[in-house]
Amino acid sequence: MREAIGLSKSPMLAIRDLSYSFEARKPIFQQVAIDIQPGEFVSVIGPSGSGKSTLFKLITGLLEPDQGEILIDGQKMETRLGLVGYMPQKDLLLPWKTVVDNVLLPLEVKKENKQQNMSEIRKWLSRFGLAEFEKAYPHELSGGMRQRVAFLRTIMTGRELLLLDEPFGALDSMTKRNMQSWLLGLWEELQKTVLFITHDLEEALLLSDRIYLLERTGTFQEMKVHLSRPRNPELIYQSEFIEMRKELERRIHHE
Ligand SMILES: Nc1ncnc2c1ncn2[C@@H]1O[C@H](COP(=O)(O)OP(=O)(O)OP(=O)(O)O)[C@@H](O)[C@H]1O
Ligand SMILES: [Mg+2]
Repeated sequence: MREAIGLSKSPMLAIRDLSYSFEARKPIFQQVAIDIQPGEFVSVIGPSGSGKSTLFKLITGLLEPDQGEILIDGQKMETRLGLVGYMPQKDLLLPWKTVVDNVLLPLEVKKENKQQNMSEIRKWLSRFGLAEFEKAYPHELSGGMRQRVAFLRTIMTGRELLLLDEPFGALDSMTKRNMQSWLLGLWEELQKTVLFITHDLEEALLLSDRIYLLERTGTFQEMKVHLSRPRNPELIYQSEFIEMRKELERRIHHE
């Protein structure tokens, strides 16, 4: 089903010949080329400080490349701001707004009719296990709940391409496993294209069709994940998964 997606369409994201450096610093990216097809789930891994979050800021348009181009759904736009759903590394919920108002933010920005969307949003809140917390404030939520609110807000942008920067980074391993199976189910259903940053190799393998390894040279190495779908977190105990994990570790250490 999902395998057929995107065969004849233009890539959801195309990065060509990208170079970038912060002022007077060593380049973070050098002539990077990345293609993401519609419906793909792709992870980015790499050491802390290697430039993963910077890549996302370039894609969203918060930063402009020194060289090269970034096309979203085949279009090269003057400004890319607002074209993708972006979940930053920190959840950035507004502390003075309730759960439901945080979730409604993208609609507020787009000036859409809130009332019209409320029944739809209630449905989503309940799918995200947040129905009873609609009127709660971020400080009353657990870390996992805050992440779900931030993620729901990213989905409410209505964008096809979602950039998720370490969404489960701060969670304990049990909560993380739950969130992973939940995300797998949701992604299967929503058919979104996801670019996902993580430090967790098992998470990258479990979720992704492909993994990009960001190397110290500022280039990306690609690895395909040949595991059938649908997947569930039990997969990590199977031998084919363990083999892929070894292969990934080999590639990381030989960079
Ligand atoms: N606004 C900035 N000005 C100057 N340098 C910056 C700025 N933002 C990030 N950097 C530098 O760019 C490099 C990449 O940072 P980035 O946040 O993209 O790393 P990362 O791969 O996301 O790391 P982590 O895994 O810790 O989140 C780092 O060396 C960082 O110090
Ligand atoms: Mg980062």
